[in-house]
Amino acid sequence: MNIFFNQNTKTFTLNTQNTQYRMAVVSDGYLAHLWYGGKLPDEDLIYLLRFDESPFTPETNNRERGSFMDNLPFEYPCFGIGDYRESAIAVLDSEGMSACDLRYSSHKIYSGKPALEGLPATFDNGGDCTTLEIEMLDSHLNLKATLIYSVFENSDIIARSVRFKNIGNEPFYLKRAYSACLELDSSQYDMITLNGSWARERMVQRQPLHIGKQSIESLRGESSHQNNPFMAVCSHNADEDNGEVYGLCFVYSGNFTAMAEVDQHDKTRLLMGINGFDFSWKLETGENFQAPEVLMTYTNKGIGQMSRNFHDVMRSNLIRGKYKDKTRPVLINNWEATYFKFDTDKLLSIADEASKLGIEMLVMDDGWFGHRDSDNSSLGDWFVYEEKLKGGLKHLVEQVNKRGMKFGIWFEPEMISPDSELFKAHPDWAIQVKGRPLTQSREQYVLDFSRKEVRDYIYFMMREILDSANIEYIKWDMNRQLTEVGSATLPADRQRELWHRYVLGVYDLMNRLTTDYPDILLENCSGGGARFDAGMLYYSPQIWCSDDTDAIERLKIQAGTSYVYPCSAMGAHVSDCPNHTVGRNTPFKTRGDVAMVGTFGYELDVTRISEEDKKQIPHQIEQFKKYNLLIRTGDFYRIGNMFEDNTWDAWEFVAKNKSEVLFEFVQVLARPNMRSRRIKLKGLDPNAYYFREDNPEQVFSGKALMQCGINVAKIWSADEIWGDFASKVIHFIKA
Ligand code: GLA
Repeated sequence: MNIFFNQNTKTFTLNTQNTQYRMAVVSDGYLAHLWYGGKLPDEDLIYLLRFDESPFTPETNNRERGSFMDNLPFEYPCFGIGDYRESAIAVLDSEGMSACDLRYSSHKIYSGKPALEGLPATFDNGGDCTTLEIEMLDSHLNLKATLIYSVFENSDIIARSVRFKNIGNEPFYLKRAYSACLELDSSQYDMITLNGSWARERMVQRQPLHIGKQSIESLRGESSHQNNPFMAVCSHNADEDNGEVYGLCFVYSGNFTAMAEVDQHDKTRLLMGINGFDFSWKLETGENFQAPEVLMTYTNKGIGQMSRNFHDVMRSNLIRGKYKDKTRPVLINNWEATYFKFDTDKLLSIADEASKLGIEMLVMDDGWFGHRDSDNSSLGDWFVYEEKLKGGLKHLVEQVNKRGMKFGIWFEPEMISPDSELFKAHPDWAIQVKGRPLTQSREQYVLDFSRKEVRDYIYFMMREILDSANIEYIKWDMNRQLTEVGSATLPADRQRELWHRYVLGVYDLMNRLTTDYPDILLENCSGGGARFDAGMLYYSPQIWCSDDTDAIERLKIQAGTSYVYPCSAMGAHVSDCPNHTVGRNTPFKTRGDVAMVGTFGYELDVTRISEEDKKQIPHQIEQFKKYNLLIRTGDFYRIGNMFEDNTWDAWEFVAKNKSEVLFEFVQVLARPNMRSRRIKLKGLDPNAYYFREDNPEQVFSGKALMQCGINVAKIWSADEIWGDFASKVIHFIKA
């Protein structure tokens, strides 16, 4: 067991491999946060609360209760009882009151980890989890809040969530129900977030904390291009390899808030949960509400270690399914090759060429259904566009299979076009506010996935397609955000539940799909990477990273994504040049080397590219297959930092047993009359020797590679890197 309760000090201790988390039941049953950091011996840490120091003193004849409440580091802070910092919970009771006061009532510790009803969450993998549930009670409101914490045997991660229950006779409303609060006894940190836009997702932002509140959020109904549901705070001097870092990642795909508040005493409160703006959830007698999960990590080994902690837990305790531990088939997607302009012959001509080159799966993207020739129609009409797919889907798939390739298909299940048979039949199925005009985006509306009959119907149509041919992959897309958020079926006092009910509906359908079709490889996508979140990783082992497929833009996008999410989950393809998003020309080799970091595939018209490029494809596939196990299971190290110096980038995958290293370098801008760059490797065995696979004469000690570095890349003539956007891959093997 890695969780203990000390009866004398009333302290809970949660141990992970290298970290410790402590909280204590203090005066009058308040649950205080004591410590999150390196491992400590079993000693009393109550002194950290400064109870002997005004204004932190719990009570002096109850005189100073107010200042005590405003200063105690609460494990799960409430509103309305003297704590004026941001609260984790907000309520409205049947009398119109908003005060809430949660006190410790009981706890239990057990092996394993409970599933969270209707929600994605990490799971126990072969007995590697221990869980603590602390029951908190507001006996006036009759609200029970169960704080749930799980630790994992092999990673420095703590998973936490909260379950609420109305145990009284009157209904009340949760107006906010965050999943986690983390109190830190200093404000001397930088806040790191991942922000961006379409085609520019997850750019790294780092700012020193300041007094007051600083936050990122989504109110778009999905996790979003703009802000990723993640935040970290780190010491001012933290870099990739050194310094303290606290990381929080939300296992959720809808509206969220991630906030840091620095208070009057230079302490910091971190909060994460479903966005409380425009949120309300009615709890009738006996009803539960389950808040989604937050994954927390702490390290004093820098931002890179934070990332590796997240990668490890996601790879072993979050991602599921047949492809979890498998190299994914090398696919070719026709989107950037044809957009909406394709038919059976065109797709087969791509398959003809692709199969000869060793590509293993053809993915038919948007435009195969209804009468869809552009993005202005047919969403919801999930039947085959026979004029395009002459001979039908089954025929197409059989022909693709005959060429030795698998077949995959695109859906956008949550959407409905005004120009569709579905909308004519069921206009009320679109999310809308009765009497208001519906806002279009990409000429489409969003289906009300809170309604079971809507989900059932869409699923029925998807099944008809999936059962009609040998389909082995689905790209589940989501191309607009929510507006006029109202449902035709919810009562007025439950309308604000729709944001969350929508997300639960999406999860429900993904759950049905992955349960009924366990062999299908599911890839998530949302206008590129607007749903690259840990919630989605529970259903799909890979997510399309960005619609920006330019290899140089991808350096930043993939590096930002790797802050939290494992490379094995990043949808990454070699696409055509000039690149369709930025018009840049990059070498075919570099495009392959950069896409190899992720799931790897092609997104171009292979019948029209140059012979020279085409010739490289079999080699790229061979290279991907050779290194994919290392990429999927190894430790990832960022070496370059394009956010600080965008003239070069480098990164590395190191086997867990340190037996091999894959080093990749991209020279973004060539430099005249300069020496080669000296680049230090990371994470190797310092006592071992490594040789270059392509030049076994060259042997280095792990110490030399890490402390002195290697010269990239002119030292051997075969190594020379020539021109802008050129790349180099070097494989080192332990001697
Ligand atoms: C989104 C996706 C693309 C493509 C198009 C199709 O933009 O990110 O990859 O599937 O939709 O409309």
